Amino acid sequence: MTKLLINIDHVATLRNARRETFPDPLEAAQACLRGGAAGIVFHLREDRRHIRDEDVRRFAAELDTKLDFELSLAPEIVDICCDVGPALATLVPERREEVTTEGGLDVTANAQRLRTVIPKLYDSGVQQVALFVDPVPSQIQAAADVGANAIELHTGDYANAAKESERERLLSRFAEAADQANRLGLTVHAGHGLDTHNYPAFGAAIPHLAEVSIGFAVVAKALFIGFEHAVAEMRSIIENNPHGS
Ligand code: PXP
Repeated sequence: MTKLLINIDHVATLRNARRETFPDPLEAAQACLRGGAAGIVFHLREDRRHIRDEDVRRFAAELDTKLDFELSLAPEIVDICCDVGPALATLVPERREEVTTEGGLDVTANAQRLRTVIPKLYDSGVQQVALFVDPVPSQIQAAADVGANAIELHTGDYANAAKESERERLLSRFAEAADQANRLGLTVHAGHGLDTHNYPAFGAAIPHLAEVSIGFAVVAKALFIGFEHAVAEMRSIIENNPHGS
């Protein structure tokens, strides 16, 4: 069964907008776990626009769950991730001016740096290193070649596709990408823009989907119904729409 991990960055975005100490992303994470999340995701960005170093330390100390530490290849952030040693580190591209992560990592262009960073992460106790990639065969092959043991498929294009025909076309690309990754021995994760509306077709079409990472849609829903309910709702949609359904 596909697991649901929740990204709580936007709780920190709200806190920081008011330069306050609340809402506390740790409290949100605890509520997500009560709602049935299988893990907590956070992205420590170089500009610290949402999650901060202190948040990361508190998550590591207080949360008894799978942590997915999203990070760029910036040496300072890689060092912090190595200190924390989360179960999962997901490497993403990062540009300062972007509102959210845009597009997958160019694994081929960054291969040399990845070949240094990935062993360093494993050596520090990280069990899974995932590369956030678009469903492009050469990138998935490159992810295996540089030593990652997982990929996270970037689902932004699928989530943003306006036309049904475009979604259908993308679903078959994602399904092929997931199959290729599985053949290469890579665990398959997916995320970006997934929500209660677009997940059912995705979940039904994509094989080997071990985990999804969902943030914005769940945090937005939680404003109205609370984290426990928002996570439980998303989780039941995932469980009711397995591959092949
Ligand atoms: N996965 C990755 C690698 C991301 O960068 C993000 C956005 O922070 C997500 C998943 C979650 O995307 P969303 O907030 O749109 O659910």
